[in-house]
Amino acid sequence: MPRLNHLPEWAALTKHRAELGEVHLRDLFAEDDERGTRLTVQVGDLYLDYSKHLVTDETLRLLQELAAARGVFELRDAMFRGEKINFTEHRAVLHTALRAPRDAEIIVDGENVVPKVHAVLDRMSAFADRVRSGDWKGYTGETISTVINIGIGGSDLGPAMAYEALRAFTDRSLTFKFVSNVDGADLHEALRDADPARTLFIVSSKTFTTIETITNATAARRWLLDALGDDAAVAKHFVAVSTNAAEVAKFGIDTTNMFEFWDWVGGRYSYDSAIGLSLMIALGPEGFRAMLAGFHQMDEHFRTAPPEYNAPLLLGLLGIWYRNFHDAQTHAVLPYSHYLSKFTAYLQQLDMESNGKSVDREGNPVEWQTGPVVWGTPGTNGQHAYYQLIHQGTTLIPADLIGFARPVAELGPLGGQHDLLMANLFAQGQALAFGKPSEQVAAEGVAEAEVPHRTFRGDRPTTTILANELTPHVLGQLIALYEHKVFVQGAVWDIDSFDQWGVELGKVLAKRIEPALTSDSPDLSALDSSTAGLVGRYRALRGR
Ligand code: F6P
Repeated sequence: MPRLNHLPEWAALTKHRAELGEVHLRDLFAEDDERGTRLTVQVGDLYLDYSKHLVTDETLRLLQELAAARGVFELRDAMFRGEKINFTEHRAVLHTALRAPRDAEIIVDGENVVPKVHAVLDRMSAFADRVRSGDWKGYTGETISTVINIGIGGSDLGPAMAYEALRAFTDRSLTFKFVSNVDGADLHEALRDADPARTLFIVSSKTFTTIETITNATAARRWLLDALGDDAAVAKHFVAVSTNAAEVAKFGIDTTNMFEFWDWVGGRYSYDSAIGLSLMIALGPEGFRAMLAGFHQMDEHFRTAPPEYNAPLLLGLLGIWYRNFHDAQTHAVLPYSHYLSKFTAYLQQLDMESNGKSVDREGNPVEWQTGPVVWGTPGTNGQHAYYQLIHQGTTLIPADLIGFARPVAELGPLGGQHDLLMANLFAQGQALAFGKPSEQVAAEGVAEAEVPHRTFRGDRPTTTILANELTPHVLGQLIALYEHKVFVQGAVWDIDSFDQWGVELGKVLAKRIEPALTSDSPDLSALDSSTAGLVGRYRALRGR
């Protein structure tokens, strides 16, 4: 297959972009009364309005042709079949199997993996029920009141984000904490008011060799044993989630207390595997399974919906349009839900670890832009911080505005504030798209010299994603939507979205540098002059 930028479909998009020039969203809406309802799609519980994008029907058609030419659908089908499309690690990419129904059949290396998935889900459910009901007792016979997940990256961000998102559906009598940072402050704060006799640690690590996680887990074990004074307590207060039973046993956790997943689940695609154990304890098995059903619904949509209504495909292609044909460097994700405060941080790993690549599948440097910087925080707070730049800055920032029709029931009278929250979402989409032309500003009697400052150019693209309510089932749909969007973009860009070699070098160097910080006679000669200078200064500040 020719390289992406040598495809005629790429050339057609380049030409189309030049022809479109500076056609404004105001014009596109003026030309078509139906645009705001026509360029929408309903998938399960999610309503996506993509009418406020800098596209015409022709743009969408050309983008679809690019996807077809790049073999996106064939790669999608290969992923769902369990083929080893993560070719640099020789692995299948089967997070979709984690939410497949019990009677599905997905073969990897000659074995149907679905029964294994459900066997683990059943064990997780039984364990979660025991913790929630108080049947699982700590070493001194007391019930568990605090659950601490220790993990990092994909072994932290998913459960931490989803726990926050679904707080209203969790058992409020239990406390949940998520410790990831090797900065001892993270564990310190989690342990400060925890009672060792009533604390359960879930050590979550795909490899069980990640230094941050093992360091924190070791310190947690020390804290527990200092308080309870008997190694036998570990079995009652530590469980593991991993693919690596040997390392789990080496750490000292009984592998009967281990919940398994598999190398065909990427870390950043793993929170619906056993990595979600803390979340399942919080939600209960039923809530967790409702979330999995939401994921599966979106999987089926992605697998079977016609391209022109296929939501992940559309979002992926719109991202390609901005990244490759408008030179957009970043993409903002702006949830209008306080409960989604960790949503964008989760998406950063999903998107940037997947598509932050610069060689194609053949190993050649790409000659096109790949993954954007993904960023954002809950919308209303952002409005009073960085939205200024999105409205009037010099850089184009496509954004997703995510909102819900209903506040969670638990808010009671505070749910009355929801209309104001959502009015802000709709207002921002409108202001970003249509702006405020200088003539309108002048007509309001603004002094001539001030008109340029008060003018909003508009033409800032957004997708609005609206659902009825933020439930486990809806969250599953939303996450799978983004997972498959990232897949589409990686397929078009011809990169391996499922490896993460870019995180390795820093890990290796940190291991090398640590002795230089701590040893009595450090050898700094192998370090570059900047790093040696910094290490020397650090040692001096620490009095070493
Ligand atoms: O930072 C790289 C990474 O490998 C992520 O991809 C992964 O989610 C994270 O580290 C944690 O890895 P593990 O689950 O093996 O501890």
